[in-house]
Amino acid sequence: MAIDLVPLSALLNRYHEEEIRRNFSFFKSINKDVEHFIHETCIQFEKIGLSRTTLVYVSFKGRQALAGYFAISSKSISISKKNWNKMSNNLHRKLMPMGYKDEKEDYLVSSILLGQLGLNFQYHDQKSKILTGDELLSLAYGEVVRARDVVGGVVVYVEVDNEPRLRDFYTRNGFSQVLLKMASDGGKVVPYETPNRQHLYIKKIKDID
Ligand SMILES: CC(C)(COP(=O)(O)OP(=O)(O)OC[C@H]1O[C@@H](n2cnc3c(N)ncnc32)[C@H](O)[C@@H]1OP(=O)(O)O)[C@@H](O)C(=O)NCCC(=O)NCCS
Repeated sequence: MAIDLVPLSALLNRYHEEEIRRNFSFFKSINKDVEHFIHETCIQFEKIGLSRTTLVYVSFKGRQALAGYFAISSKSISISKKNWNKMSNNLHRKLMPMGYKDEKEDYLVSSILLGQLGLNFQYHDQKSKILTGDELLSLAYGEVVRARDVVGGVVVYVEVDNEPRLRDFYTRNGFSQVLLKMASDGGKVVPYETPNRQHLYIKKIKDID
């Protein structure tokens, strides 16, 4: 199976934007944010340097089909002092040696954000898959390591909807979910929520090398 990783910047250098948009408009995902990002946002983010998108093409029926994509950016994880104090010692140990405090006393962890990752459901259902999620993630790891080597970062993270299938996917692939212990509620453990009310999963980049 031939797999081509194509940076969006290379497509923009080679083709008219309208042609690229038309090509991307066929991308289908079960996750509407992932679909919206490739249809509407990725080109603008590429131009202003907010993220880098990589398209994954796989040979299928004699041509290269857009099987999936991912987008990464260099962005620290920021955790308020209040939430930091609710995290386990184990998580502190994981993050602290590499974290630092900003002027607001929030904890910042130098990281790479895997902002989007999705398969094209045009070619992906229970019966047939031209690429699996695990394969797409391991292709993304390659770019995460390259980014780390250029700009730094010790943790790769994802922010995802509260969806059991996504929790299974990321924990199966070695990510840890960030959880908080609520002293006010008898020590009950709850998922950490980002400002967008998503759940946070982290993995040390050295563990994917
Ligand atoms: C996450 C993903 C890469 C995993 O791929 P995979 O390991 O090959 O697994 P599958 O695509 O077969 O998904 C497994 C199950 O989870 C479900 N699932 C996947 N993403 C889901 C989502 N965002 N919301 C709800 N269900 C989801 C699938 O429908 C499938 O259900 P089924 O077994 O009943 O058919 C792929 O499912 C995907 O592209 N999902 C949509 C994009 C997404 O949510 N990305 C993560 C956030 S950036």
